[in-house]
Amino acid sequence: MQAPTTTNAADAVRDSAFLRAARGEPVPHTPVWFMRQAGRSLPEYLRIREGVSMLDSCMQPDLVTEITLQPVRRYGVDAAIFFSDIVLPLKAIGVDLDIVPGVGPVVASPVRTLADVAAIPDLTPEHVPFITESVTRLVGELGSTPLIGFAGAPFTVASYLVEGGPSKEHAKTKALMFGAPDVWAALMTKIAAISTAYLEVQVAAGASAIQLFDSWAGALTRADYQAQVLPYSTDVLGAIGRTGVPRIHFGVGTGEILDLMGQAGADVVGVDWRVSLADGIARVGGRCVQGNLDPTLVFAPTEVMLERADQVLAAGRAAPGHIFNLGHGVIPSTDPDQLKRLTDHVHEASAR
Ligand code: CP3
Repeated sequence: MQAPTTTNAADAVRDSAFLRAARGEPVPHTPVWFMRQAGRSLPEYLRIREGVSMLDSCMQPDLVTEITLQPVRRYGVDAAIFFSDIVLPLKAIGVDLDIVPGVGPVVASPVRTLADVAAIPDLTPEHVPFITESVTRLVGELGSTPLIGFAGAPFTVASYLVEGGPSKEHAKTKALMFGAPDVWAALMTKIAAISTAYLEVQVAAGASAIQLFDSWAGALTRADYQAQVLPYSTDVLGAIGRTGVPRIHFGVGTGEILDLMGQAGADVVGVDWRVSLADGIARVGGRCVQGNLDPTLVFAPTEVMLERADQVLAAGRAAPGHIFNLGHGVIPSTDPDQLKRLTDHVHEASAR
């Protein structure tokens, strides 16, 4: 007899170009989505966010659902990224922080001591019922389009907690790492547990892949990344591996540590635009890759952007699986029409 529609949708998600590529299986076309596709440059996003703070909007399932769907409708991308933020789980467990428009996350009492770390609670599903509700609703609305859940990796989240806000040098964070190994280990262990629990909630509610954002890991030397950061990201990715969903691991300026990021256990490694995709593929040896068009190419003439996209697509064929993306997030002043042209072009040029 008739299978319930939810089963059909779940089968279609499992068989989507995005998840096939993440598993290294043959695809009908190269799947494409854009980091930070939700929010930022879309006029419909700016309208719906009027008068609602960033963190409040992340806690309202109707807003989260609508904002997550907006780029899927407009661009026809192959995956949705859950609308939230890497500091949202911290807010949910009671850390005093805010996302200041045009600045980023600001933490009221930066973490410096073992007592500061001990005061941060662990995250349980009861802290984030709105996440479960938002993901459940979204999976219903998305039909055959997969939903990517995400969390911040321990180093990148630690940087906000220790600096108290955005930072270029991450000097206080690295000073803690160099000078207070016990505090560092406790903090990284705590954040790894929080990120793992936060991702597990998203996967339990129906997210069909996850991305671990270690945006600022490129600030580290290879040796420091390997000794002081990699083990904690490995713990997060290992725990999520037990759920069976593909895991993407991404950071910015990570050319020198890309092989190590692959060793953390991800199925897919995100490559930023500074590294040629061919080099990125060689460095992560045998893994699937995601990337890596320079996000400023949307400001170039369309034909130049598409020519560069063709080069990325051609290079991607050397990997067992390639998910097309920008090399970092959508720049806020991006013209959405350029992203629409780019999405259509990737689909057409890669159709097999
Ligand atoms: O596609 C999406 O944008 C999905 C949702 C998403 C947000 N943040 C929403 C957001 C995702 C995936 C993130 C991840 C995130 N947040 C990262 C990793 C990704 C990356 O870009 O490397 C980082 C480092 C953060 C921390 C953070 N939050 C920053 C640096 C900022 C930008 C500050 C600014 O205003 O430019 C934020 C705020 C934020 N997160 C906004 C959005 C839509 C803007 C807030 C607003 O509109 O008021």
